[in-house]
Amino acid sequence: MKGIVLAGGRGTRMYPSTLTTSKQLLAVYDKPMIYHPLSVLMLAGIREILVISTPESIVALRALLKDGAHLGLDITYAVQDEPRGIAESFVIGADHIGDSPVALILGDNVFHGAGFPKILRTARDELDGCTLFGYPVSDPERYGIGETDAQGNLVSLEEKPLKPRSDNAITGLYFYESDVVEIARDLTPSERGELEITDVNQVYLKNGRARLIRLGRGHTWLDAGTHESLLDASQYVHVIEKRQGVRVACVEEIALRMGYIDADHCYELGTRMRNSEYGQYLMQVAQTIA
Ligand code: G1P
Repeated sequence: MKGIVLAGGRGTRMYPSTLTTSKQLLAVYDKPMIYHPLSVLMLAGIREILVISTPESIVALRALLKDGAHLGLDITYAVQDEPRGIAESFVIGADHIGDSPVALILGDNVFHGAGFPKILRTARDELDGCTLFGYPVSDPERYGIGETDAQGNLVSLEEKPLKPRSDNAITGLYFYESDVVEIARDLTPSERGELEITDVNQVYLKNGRARLIRLGRGHTWLDAGTHESLLDASQYVHVIEKRQGVRVACVEEIALRMGYIDADHCYELGTRMRNSEYGQYLMQVAQTIA
């Protein structure tokens, strides 16, 4: 399975903080926001990852993540020059996807929870059409919403409905078979001129090929795309890390635990940042696992 992180948009909701930097490079407490979606793809066992961003932001993202080799990944980059919608990712990423299934994750989405890696890998192995991940929220009108029947089957999808039929938000993590490229190419742009991800999902739903996995209690899903939600995400990560002494979305540690890099390499990555607690953590994790 291939991966795509969509780190596009101008981050206008976060001006002036994002006037000169990409939203996805802002810190969620102790690390760049993009480490969160990247770690989700890594935990799903995905190593070939395309990062899509604006012409301005791609330079800094590339400086941060490079070609991914230091994490045992293969990271490439593509530009979305105008915010023409989430589903344009599949058109931009058509060559990257080829005939592989693909996982798309939005660059400001934060997932955390016990058992989440297993859910990801099972979803990947059982993919048939499209798999969406739902999460109950108190403000469903802000999201794509999925309604389910008594058996938990998806029966309707709506983008930011004024009167939501359920509180089940569709998170910014989507698994598809490779036919998503053709589906995205055939879409008609919405009133705001965008290729809407919910329209892609509607096609799979209509064809009986859309599945919903509900993440409930025991899981955390946050989108860090506003000042307040970024602060929430930072506080969440801070509390977990301080209490448990572990780091959430530490991509070097995940690379080590997934067997993408060895302990010596992880240690060396830590020494490059040894003045920070993050760097010291990497050195300590490498020594524990070695
Ligand atoms: C997008 C999608 C929406 C989804 C959300 C998840 O909305 O259009 O369906 O629920 O991401 O983060 P946006 O955040 O771009 O407004």
